[in-house]
Amino acid sequence: MSTNTYKNIILLGAAGDTGKHILPALLADSTFNVTILSRADSNATFSSNVKVIKVNYSDKNALTKALVGQDVLISTVGGEGLHNDFGTTLVQAAIDAGVKWFIPSEFGADYADPICTTIPPLAGKLKVINLLKENQSRISHTFISTGMFLNWGFDNGFFGFDVLNRTVTLFDDGKGRVSGTSLPNITKAVVAAIHHPEVSLNKRIYIADATFTQEEVLSFFEKYTDTKWTVKHVSTKDLQKRGDEKIAKGNIGEAFYDYIKYLVYGGHKVCIFEGRTSNKDLGIPTTSLDQIVKEAVQRNN
Ligand SMILES: NC(=O)c1ccc[n+]([C@@H]2O[C@H](COP(=O)([O-])OP(=O)(O)OC[C@H]3O[C@@H](n4cnc5c(N)ncnc54)[C@H](OP(=O)(O)O)[C@@H]3O)[C@@H](O)[C@H]2O)c1
Repeated sequence: MSTNTYKNIILLGAAGDTGKHILPALLADSTFNVTILSRADSNATFSSNVKVIKVNYSDKNALTKALVGQDVLISTVGGEGLHNDFGTTLVQAAIDAGVKWFIPSEFGADYADPICTTIPPLAGKLKVINLLKENQSRISHTFISTGMFLNWGFDNGFFGFDVLNRTVTLFDDGKGRVSGTSLPNITKAVVAAIHHPEVSLNKRIYIADATFTQEEVLSFFEKYTDTKWTVKHVSTKDLQKRGDEKIAKGNIGEAFYDYIKYLVYGGHKVCIFEGRTSNKDLGIPTTSLDQIVKEAVQRNN
């Protein structure tokens, strides 16, 4: 492992779906001093062995003060925090506080692809990307593209697979290729990115366990459940329309889920990372799709 010059790490969103996996990996690394930043009115609770700062995020001075002395800020903020002005306020506060390196709440598709500017719920993430690029001389950044969260998406049905009812909803013909990473390997990538600035600093890095179609996943599910599954279809154009309707009603958070499926399965190649992953350079293992699906069946049967 490299000599680590980035020791003081502050994590936002540490109790969320992503952050709760990243936090233990940071705490397990004895070269890091870890602090959690959380909203003043958050219900999140944390174990007493980790330093927690609670701040009213609309108080920019308090936010800046909370970040002073930190080397790396990792944001795994979700919900409304991705859609309001919080992302850009946070970047500005980090610059003012002298934070050296900012890892924003990305963890998805290749948001550098121009198609992403046509997806309304991505506007907040794109503003953060642009602001960080403009201020690269004042604060470094790393954009981490992980593709789809594999175990997460198989457990909550996001990828169209309903394990209990042996039913799949294929997006279009089910032949769209997407890359994805399991949460354990995402956490390893975040830690390794900090230890290997030569690979990650001021870059977008791509991480993936596998790149696959829904059809391939279905064949593994049928193998491990020993059952022929019921197949339904939804068109990605309809998902885009559904997203538009939700946006028109002001429901940006829900629209996000429809748009993301339209974006990654709709033939835009925005979530296919084959041939450009940093797994090897960062020493991140890959888990096979076969194994990931096998474990999903064990958990959800
Ligand atoms: N590629 C994929 O398949 C995939 C899947 C899931 C998520 N993601 C990405 O991962 C990132 C984190 O998502 P998540 O699902 O882990 O998030 P989440 O669980 O919905 O929320 C994480 C944390 O964000 C903070 N938060 C909530 N509302 C906020 C607000 N209005 N302002 C500021 N902070 C707020 C909360 O922390 P406190 O209560 O401590 O303040 C919360 O625990 C996002 O960028 C998301 O797009 C990707």
